[in-house]
Amino acid sequence: MTVYLNGKFLPISEAKISVLDRGFIFGDGVYEVIPVYSRHIFRLPEHLLRLQRSLDSIKLDNPFSDAEWTNIIGELVACNEPEDQYLYLHITRGVAKRDHAFPYPAVQPTVFLMSNPLNTPSAALLQHGIRAITASDDRWLHCDIKAISLLPNVLLRQMAIDAGCAETILFRDNEFLTEGSSSNIFVVKNGALLAPPKNNLMLPGITYDVVLELAVANSIPYEIRKVLRSEVFDADELLLTSSTKEVLAIVQLDGKPIGTGMPGVMFAKLHDLYQKFKQEVMRT
Ligand code: PDD
Repeated sequence: MTVYLNGKFLPISEAKISVLDRGFIFGDGVYEVIPVYSRHIFRLPEHLLRLQRSLDSIKLDNPFSDAEWTNIIGELVACNEPEDQYLYLHITRGVAKRDHAFPYPAVQPTVFLMSNPLNTPSAALLQHGIRAITASDDRWLHCDIKAISLLPNVLLRQMAIDAGCAETILFRDNEFLTEGSSSNIFVVKNGALLAPPKNNLMLPGITYDVVLELAVANSIPYEIRKVLRSEVFDADELLLTSSTKEVLAIVQLDGKPIGTGMPGVMFAKLHDLYQKFKQEVMRT
């Protein structure tokens, strides 16, 4: 696997950083995950815009222009084997003596990109859906920043794995739906989609936007507003979205069936629309 580190393309085994990197010491950095289909980069401008917002939020200068990012990403995609990849892009505040305050003067940020094979959900997963649990969203109040300090998300996700499930769905104040530990969540009720609003309590998913665009283009009714815990349990269907999982049905929550306990018609429709959209945009 060829990766990019601080200006060089090199085998992953040769990619080394200092133990004083602020990403390693403080989790002081941001990241992006970008799908690549048939070597076409999916929604690059949108991912770069979200990256810029994350960088602005942590007061770190963007080391590259969009044109420079596009070149680096294009080269990385070209030198890796799989046709479908997912890119991981990571920027930290660089290497400095350990001090919580930003290094002054600023040091060179560390920029790391790698490509992994993109394995979208299997046919079995699409057919049967996934099980999830719920938990209190006890993360910080800047969940809109795609920060590399993911310990809360890691612990929340592991709770699901330990319970034999795939995802943990989070509620603020035990009342309002925010998102999954690494995904956004949609409720389906009476043929309409219901989604929590983008704010500081959730990551503004690129896939979340695609799903809402597909809803608009295909006259699927939708509402964006605070979603109550009771509405989640009372849903006809529950959907999870992310760049690597695309759209998946959640069929069981805390051991209780959602709707019929099987992926429903809205899932089938959106999954189909998402695949068609990918074909049109990426493979032409
Ligand atoms: N995670 N919410 C959280 C907390 C996430 O970590 C992610 C994605 C999403 C969905 O965002 P998008 O549709 O842009 O992928 C929502 C990625 C895939 C990850 O960390 O690997």
